[in-house]
Amino acid sequence: MKVLVIGGAGYIGSHAVRLLNRSGHDATVLDSLVLGHAEAVPAASLTVGDLSSVDFLTELLVRDSIEAVMHFAAFASVPESVIEPAKYYENNLIGTIHLLEAMRRTGVSRLVFSSTCATYGIPESVPITEETAQRPINPYGFTKLACERAMADYSRAYGLGFVALRYFNASGAAEDGSIGEDHDPETHLIPIALQAALGKRDHIAIYGNDYPTPDGTCIRDYIHVDDLAEAHRLTLERIEPGAGRYYNVGTGRGFSVREVIESARRVTGRPIPAVEKPRRPGDPPALVAAADLLRRNTGWAPRYTEIDAIVASAWRWHSKHPEGYA
Ligand code: UFG
Repeated sequence: MKVLVIGGAGYIGSHAVRLLNRSGHDATVLDSLVLGHAEAVPAASLTVGDLSSVDFLTELLVRDSIEAVMHFAAFASVPESVIEPAKYYENNLIGTIHLLEAMRRTGVSRLVFSSTCATYGIPESVPITEETAQRPINPYGFTKLACERAMADYSRAYGLGFVALRYFNASGAAEDGSIGEDHDPETHLIPIALQAALGKRDHIAIYGNDYPTPDGTCIRDYIHVDDLAEAHRLTLERIEPGAGRYYNVGTGRGFSVREVIESARRVTGRPIPAVEKPRRPGDPPALVAAADLLRRNTGWAPRYTEIDAIVASAWRWHSKHPEGYA
């Protein structure tokens, strides 16, 4: 299929582009390069632009004879979304509406959308199934939930076929270490631990040691970026016209902050000093996916289920590219 990958030069998008091209699809990338990196995608496939104009998006869909869209482009920092909600509503929600409009105009009716476990807020119980109530606790989660609702309405009214993939914690890097995670500023646990291993930080902070979890630190479900990419490919190939599907994408296993830092010490063989700090606002104690629905409906299964294997793949990227793409 000719697939437009919006946000394809970003962390998850770039892994999806590579997988699509290796699986016989033809990926075209649209990326504003505000957060994405041109080096992460084949130069010939990249168009630089954003989601601010329906006309521009319409022309692009026609120009490249696009048959399906994967939409990764979003701002995804929870604390930033609290301080600057306008930026999140503008880019994440209004941008997505522009895309839906362009797809409606051109009759492109297959969409895979990057949603998030942040749409669940603080879940009543863990593991989280797709039926768990969605009660986001920050603007980021609200914008993604609003996009899910908009897609459902476009589906009913105009026949859009879509899949919303609710990611848990995307992590790791391509097996050969050639593309990976490069955020500025970096806020995520694994890259920060590895930057400390590289000596780029003198320590890592552990945000909160008094959570109701076995070791007092937050538990997350770390899902490898190539397993996420595979979930995109499998669901893309199964989109039904006029129907929407929602899937959690996680391994079903949770690891605490302390366990992840221990893993980073094992994998790198380096000390990684850790300093216990107060809780970070907005962090739910535990987020772990029940991802059986995706397995059942598509045959998907994560290849990376051990935290050491995930951290080792990230380490290959970070140790080869200590300055990221720069
Ligand atoms: N953490 C630390 N020290 C750090 C960085 C993180 O202790 O230096 C902790 C966090 O407090 C949290 C855990 O490590 O408990 C994971 O934090 P990340 O920032 O790596 O990931 P989040 O779980 O906060 O964020 C992810 C996605 C978001 C999404 C969110 C949903 O990156 O896009 O899950 O809760 F919104």
